[in-house]
Amino acid sequence: MKMEKQQIGVIGAGNMAEALIHGMITSMRFSSQSILVSNRSNRDRLAYLSKKYKVKTTDKKSLVEQSDVIVLAMKPQDIFSVIEEIKVWMRPNQLCISIAAGIEMASLQKASGLELSIIRAMPNTSAKVLCSATAIAKGENVTEEQMELARKIFSCVGTVREVAEEQMDVVTGLSGSGPAYVYSFLEAMIDGGHHLGLSQKESTELVLQTLRGAIEMMTATGMKPSELSKQICSPNGTTVAGLAVLNQNHFKESVMEAIKAATLRSKELRKSIQS
Ligand SMILES: NC(=O)c1ccc[n+]([C@@H]2O[C@H](COP(=O)([O-])OP(=O)(O)OC[C@H]3O[C@@H](n4cnc5c(N)ncnc54)[C@H](OP(=O)(O)O)[C@@H]3O)[C@@H](O)[C@H]2O)c1
Repeated sequence: MKMEKQQIGVIGAGNMAEALIHGMITSMRFSSQSILVSNRSNRDRLAYLSKKYKVKTTDKKSLVEQSDVIVLAMKPQDIFSVIEEIKVWMRPNQLCISIAAGIEMASLQKASGLELSIIRAMPNTSAKVLCSATAIAKGENVTEEQMELARKIFSCVGTVREVAEEQMDVVTGLSGSGPAYVYSFLEAMIDGGHHLGLSQKESTELVLQTLRGAIEMMTATGMKPSELSKQICSPNGTTVAGLAVLNQNHFKESVMEAIKAATLRSKELRKSIQS
């Protein structure tokens, strides 16, 4: 596979930055030397990343000046002070990829006072194991080449799907928060098996493989979940009895309501940070 020549500057050296750096390097699409990292003040963290991944660590000025793309990987509440600090070193049309949840491209553009090329990305925590479902949204001035680079970066940690920026709140509520919903479901299934006599280990193993198998079935067959579910149900059988309880307790509606609540919260948080 061809190694990218572009210089990637990552501002923020926390969890998500490390997941991206790990993915970029293990994919062999980016060399350690093509990645520059900076943060606010935690020198130990930079030393750790430099030792573990052999990336270069530096101050924000030289990072911005040397990088073809700047990845903004700090908390949403810190992003505007970073833009304020780095805008003097930024070049017009320089690519900026923000992973800060909820922050709109227009407000980053406005804060910089420059015609930047901005892409928003929403990965999820599974990026740590290279299985993120990442959504990216393209800003106005972004070229196809810059979009391709963003796809390459995030495909190092999982799948990448392009969406319109207006969909980013739904993405945050669905795939951003989604791993937590799945963990709740997994916990419920594991505890269900355990309370009925299986050991924790036995129940966990069976549940994890059941989930993997269901995902694989849906992926391999292309069938809808409801069709696959019907295939397991025989009249008066065990699955019908189990599903009846889920339906009585409004399982599907609860999950849909959870996604709606998280989406609304994403909108509210954005308003509180940007106002
Ligand atoms: N974690 C997730 O699952 C996830 C998923 C999707 C999107 N995101 C987004 O990813 C972003 C980062 O999340 P995280 O969990 O990686 O955060 P984190 O672990 O708290 O790391 C934040 C980093 O930002 C740095 N930072 C803060 N202010 C700075 C400044 N003024 N200049 C330079 N660096 C600064 C911090 O440096 P110091 O340590 O030196 O202060 C730290 O390295 C957030 O916006 C979040 O919304 C996270």
